Amino acid sequence: MKRLNVNLPGLPVRVTVACAAAALLLAGCELPRPEVEQVGYRGTGMVQVDNPRAVKKLAAANQVPESLPRVEPAGPLAGEIYQNVQVLGDLTVPEFTRVMQAMTAWVSPEQGCQYCHAGAELSSDAVYAKKVSRTMLRMTRHINTTWEPHVRGTGVTCYTCHRGQNVPVNTWSQDPRLDKARGLAARDTGQNHPASAVAYASLPADPFSTFLVADNAIRVVGTKALPHGNATGTKDAEKTYGLMMHISQSLGVNCTFCHNTRSMAAWDQSSPQRTTAFYGIRMVRDLNVNYVVPTAEWLPANRLGPAGDVPKVNCATCHQGANKPLLGVSMYQDYPELGAPRPPPPAPEPVPAEGAEAPIT
Ligand code: HEC
Ligand code: HEC
Ligand code: HEC
Ligand code: HEC
Repeated sequence: MKRLNVNLPGLPVRVTVACAAAALLLAGCELPRPEVEQVGYRGTGMVQVDNPRAVKKLAAANQVPESLPRVEPAGPLAGEIYQNVQVLGDLTVPEFTRVMQAMTAWVSPEQGCQYCHAGAELSSDAVYAKKVSRTMLRMTRHINTTWEPHVRGTGVTCYTCHRGQNVPVNTWSQDPRLDKARGLAARDTGQNHPASAVAYASLPADPFSTFLVADNAIRVVGTKALPHGNATGTKDAEKTYGLMMHISQSLGVNCTFCHNTRSMAAWDQSSPQRTTAFYGIRMVRDLNVNYVVPTAEWLPANRLGPAGDVPKVNCATCHQGANKPLLGVSMYQDYPELGAPRPPPPAPEPVPAEGAEAPIT
């Protein structure tokens, strides 16, 4: 640091100290400079702020594994050849084998086929992971075929959530500590429990049970001038904000990615991404209620959360910090077997038996 040459006695020292203090303060600022991108109309403050360093890290964490080479869809169907195929029966045997290999790489790369199959008896359902996987196959096909308003053509595979892990890294289950408070604190409605789920904000730490399993109203802003019409209170608003913190954090975006903050409620001033998010909320609820929670029937106790419930899906399960999972790369395009089942081949024309009379028409 350069010393200022000022003639007043004592000042140079003070200036040096002031400069050093300023430099120290600035060292706490983010470097390199964040990049700001305008995503809405000028003047609405709808911008995304990104740190180039974080963007680089995100890109590194979202490398997509290479797909297995495609196989000829020829030959007999898995449903005809194997003994206990309930979901993927429409695939040909080579297609079925390729999906088994991919699933192994996506979910159990270390344990291999044996993670789901007991010994050589491949048709046996003795291993719980196989039964869970069958539900997961149904769920993945369901996402890719019925939740197009959210996942578009990009779709998902097991890898979107699992990333080479037996259980996805980002799941949620109930936290029994939230119910422990007594006395006045018992009315804290889950607040002031530092939780990463709500980005450590002082908001209810479990917005998930309320909105991502149960179907409670998220909208809290009144549509009529006070004192009319709005039955929701501050506590409801806090839950909504808790969910919104989770959404922003899971996607690595600001509130302004979806909202014009002059009116959080107004849809006509929101970005199209808010509509995608609207469907996302409904999709997650559907997945949890109809697919993930029912796997409780098979899961061993060590797979359940501290309150004994199944680890469930939230926005972070797929998104993992990116506005589009895997930064928008579609692995599903290479695995259409995880989409709509192929319609069964048309039944062969009945061949009239020799000598049979021509049908009367
Ligand atoms: C993550 C779990 C999982 C892994 C790993 C896995 N499988 Fe499977 N496998 C399943 C499920 C689930 C089914 C039943 C599919 C259905 O009902 O449509 C199945 C069924 C099969 C069947 C049909 C058996 C029959 O007669 O019913 C074969 C063959 C098979 N798998 C081979 C393999 C091979 C080979 C590997 C390793 C490369 C493998 N699987 C790895 C879950 C798995
Ligand atoms: C939307 C996210 C998502 C997708 C897609 C997904 N899973 Fe899962 N998976 C989960 C969650 C959440 C759990 C933990 C809850 C449970 O076990 O039911 C889980 C658990 C599992 C388990 C149990 C692991 C254990 O050891 O307890 C297996 C096996 C599994 N998944 C296989 C698959 C397969 C195979 C696919 C692709 C056909 C798949 N999953 C796709 C979210 C997903
Ligand atoms: C990825 C898009 C997205 C992001 C990011 C987002 N929201 Fe939302 N927000 C929504 C959707 C969708 C709804 C409506 C949910 C519904 O009706 O089911 C909503 C609803 C709301 C509401 C209730 C509006 C009403 O009608 O009462 C408030 C308040 C809100 N968000 C605040 C925030 C805040 C604060 C943030 C940042 C911490 C944020 N949102 C980030 C998508 C988003
Ligand atoms: C099953 C996996 C999965 C889950 C869970 C999921 N998403 Fe998505 N989401 C996707 C996929 C795949 C896309 C990419 C679609 C595309 O290519 O346009 C996407 C895209 C989006 C987008 C559009 C981003 C953009 O830049 O256009 C928003 C917003 C979004 N998701 C919000 C959410 C919210 C909010 C939740 C939780 C309530 C959620 N998602 C849960 C898979 C998921």
